[in-house]
Amino acid sequence: MTKEQAKKRIQELRELLDYYNYMYYQEDTSVISDQEFDKLMAELIELEKAWPEFFDPNSPSQRVGGTITKNFPTVEHEYPMLSLGNTYSVEELREFDNRVRKGLEGESYEYYCELKFDGVAISLKYENGRLVQGVTRGDGTRGDDVTPNVRTIRSLPLVIRKEVPARFEVRGEVLLTKAAFRKINQQRLEAGEELFANPRNTASGTLKMQESAVVARRNLTCYVYGLLGPQLPPTHAEAMKWLKDWGFPVSPTSKLCRSIQDVFDYIAHWDKHRHELEVEIDGIVIKVNSHAQQEKLGYTAKSPRWAIAYKFKAEQACTELLDVTYQVGRTGAITPVAELQPVQLSGTTVKRASLHNANEIKRLDLHEHDYVYVEKGGEIIPKVTGVDLSKRKPGSKPIRFIDKCPECGTPLVRHPGEAQHYCPNEKNCPPQLKGRIEHFIQRQAMDIDSLGEKTIALLFDKGLVRNPADLYDLKMADILALEGFQEQSARNLLEGIVKSKKAPFEAVLFALGIRHVGKTVAEKLARHFRNIDNLMHASKEELMAVYEIGERIAESVIAFFNDPDYRAEVERLRQAGLQFSLQEEEMPVSDVLNGKSFVISGVFARHSRDELKALIKKHGGRVLSGVSGKLDYLLAGENMGPAKRAKAEALGVTIINEEEFEKMIGNS
Ligand code: IVH
Repeated sequence: MTKEQAKKRIQELRELLDYYNYMYYQEDTSVISDQEFDKLMAELIELEKAWPEFFDPNSPSQRVGGTITKNFPTVEHEYPMLSLGNTYSVEELREFDNRVRKGLEGESYEYYCELKFDGVAISLKYENGRLVQGVTRGDGTRGDDVTPNVRTIRSLPLVIRKEVPARFEVRGEVLLTKAAFRKINQQRLEAGEELFANPRNTASGTLKMQESAVVARRNLTCYVYGLLGPQLPPTHAEAMKWLKDWGFPVSPTSKLCRSIQDVFDYIAHWDKHRHELEVEIDGIVIKVNSHAQQEKLGYTAKSPRWAIAYKFKAEQACTELLDVTYQVGRTGAITPVAELQPVQLSGTTVKRASLHNANEIKRLDLHEHDYVYVEKGGEIIPKVTGVDLSKRKPGSKPIRFIDKCPECGTPLVRHPGEAQHYCPNEKNCPPQLKGRIEHFIQRQAMDIDSLGEKTIALLFDKGLVRNPADLYDLKMADILALEGFQEQSARNLLEGIVKSKKAPFEAVLFALGIRHVGKTVAEKLARHFRNIDNLMHASKEELMAVYEIGERIAESVIAFFNDPDYRAEVERLRQAGLQFSLQEEEMPVSDVLNGKSFVISGVFARHSRDELKALIKKHGGRVLSGVSGKLDYLLAGENMGPAKRAKAEALGVTIINEEEFEKMIGNS
């Protein structure tokens, strides 16, 4: 490929990918399949690697991340990022409306109502249609330049291929959808990591992460609600329409209101339906629509006089704190829980609420038998948000956080910089041991569906099982001695355990419960190291050389295999017959076909088609079923249909025979 050709193809791919992305996020249509999209993206990344002179920070390839920023530079905002005045009632809103009417001296006016998205404010600068900077709010005057992380937000345009003002700034809110938030927490649960509290804080933390590749995987999203710059249309509504036309994510929920009554109706509607939205909101923002009138009304020191936020009342109840109990998780994390006098809260009875950690108890200055306020977010478990001090009984004692594990009595530890207390007794603390076995048997791991939480508790309490390896020593008589087991159910249980010995290496690796080694990481490690011995002896550097394996995971793997007890456990599992290496057919031989795709057609002299398929995979290639423009090679044998050959030729797919294929993989 000549330099000119490369330049042209890179340009073509960038435009195509931007277009598909636009169609997906703006028009809700998938023009091509995910696989085809990934394929084009891989081609672009490959070409950009081969021709670094064509690097572009706004290439769609930048959306997958790859930059590491140790310290985000602080930059000054061209227009300060103000906040909004808050109101909590219809009366206060009427007062706002009166102030606006007075300020506008008899002019007629309209309000533009929007949802108040509960995320992190962002300022986005564009020059000549290209994103040049993304900055957090900071103190309103200066914020952090988090541009590489902003580039991973797929719903935001990086390049606008339309006529737009030479310079403009967009304001918006970076968010995690409830679904994306749940997914992140699910993965953290599987990896034995502490769960995040809510989408807002997670989005905020994510935007400030050093590794943009990690940010990309978290799937941040965004809604924009402001346009600034020297060239603006007369109204905010029109500005929003411009942004929408330029490809920005503008929420379709906004509404132009001609009277304050329309505003009240809008508020009532979204107060009722807000839980149906895919993102969390905490109120409504009401803006005077005309830019000239906005100017006329002006600003206070902190916020505009032409806009206000109406905050929804959190659904709240007040009830008596009966006790504080402490839960010990699989990783030993201690979570304090408020045991409450049962109380009705938005349709359900609440008896318990999370107190998160010791700092939270301190912040609330919680005392025994206090009356506490509990709130329920969209779908997060209820939490204690405050104390009604007027009801505090004189002489009541402050709640003191425990200093020993409630399950095993071990003194708790707290890692520097972390809010959570931990029970460090991972090898003997009952809930931690049971939790490890529950993790081991889950579907994604060893998939022993004949075992459940209850049976594990029974086996544990009888002293029959303390670690995963003990499962494989269980005898018929052991199980028959358990409450509720008969001949048939006992046999089922044992059969389930025996069957699990077939679980593939990557599942076994995940099942071991090495901290920070979730399902995806386990797969990567399995494929790279191929067997447990290679993995066990890998150095930190060797581990970190694996794509997407960082220092934290590497250290955790090393610590696990340095532990004599865990090593002994692995040996017992190996003796029991578990899979500790990739199956022959999955074993990679080379990566000469990395990123290359094949279709096999016809009959071959020296290999069966299945053999050829296996060979392609072993050398890192992929086998597709149909000929398309994205295909790299058609591996053609005897009696291949002429139509297929014609199609491949027309699409410019390289056609090779068995011999040429053998040369490619280097064996004759
Ligand atoms: S307009 C000058 N519109 O709320 C006012 N803000 O307290 C600029 N927010 O920092 C803000 N949704 O992070 C505006 N539709 C919306 C909003 C919104 C959420 C946030 C934003 C701002 C805060 C104001």
